[in-house]
Amino acid sequence: MEFQDVVDRRRMVRNFTSAPVDAAVRDRILANALHAPSAGFSQGWAFLVLETSADRDLFWQSTGADGEDSSPWLEGMQRAPLLVVPLSHRDGYLDRYAEPDKGWTDRAEDRWPVPYWHIDAGMASLLMLLTVVDAGLGACFFGIPPGHIGSFRAAFGVPDGYVPIGAIAIGHRAPDRKSPSLRRGRRGPDEVVHRGRWSSPL
Ligand SMILES: Cc1cc2nc3c(=O)[nH]c(=O)nc-3n(C[C@H](O)[C@H](O)[C@H](O)COP(=O)(O)O)c2cc1C
Repeated sequence: MEFQDVVDRRRMVRNFTSAPVDAAVRDRILANALHAPSAGFSQGWAFLVLETSADRDLFWQSTGADGEDSSPWLEGMQRAPLLVVPLSHRDGYLDRYAEPDKGWTDRAEDRWPVPYWHIDAGMASLLMLLTVVDAGLGACFFGIPPGHIGSFRAAFGVPDGYVPIGAIAIGHRAPDRKSPSLRRGRRGPDEVVHRGRWSSPL
């Protein structure tokens, strides 16, 4: 698929058939995640891959989908045969930037303009979303409610230093309802692009 078609066709998909994701496609999705850029080439990320129905059920239970936080969009999402949870690892960045070529030996967090550990896990996530489209599949990136991060970690033995920045449900697309958020419309360049000066008219 042409790159521009991949970008144009990328949409969050929230309903899936029960067909499994081919192992080679799964591996390509993950391999491409590892090609994401990362600050200082820190690569302070990890990816929890859940494929068995027992593991997927545990994910949905531990993140509150079966409880009071349940909502209709989750029903279609829960059919996804593959879940990938991208996790960021702040200490991996603090360690990397304490090395001699960077020299931030105080490991101070206020040196960082924004938390690059989350940014890089997000970049890897976008590469996975684009790879999914290129493979003819669908995916949705969604958040894990803050109140369920602890139960998620406990369920899968994830160490405290790793933060799930969200989760990606992946599978074969099934008919989907559009997200109400899309009614907002896509913002155009005249609204968000500032040329030369912030205040300059376009
Ligand atoms: C950081 C982030 C968090 C998101 N969280 C959710 C979520 O929890 N549930 C959901 O259904 N979609 C979620 N989305 C998807 C957005 O709603 C979606 O990207 C947006 O409405 C634009 O639609 P599109 O991606 O199909 O173009 C999230 C997207 C991002 C980038």
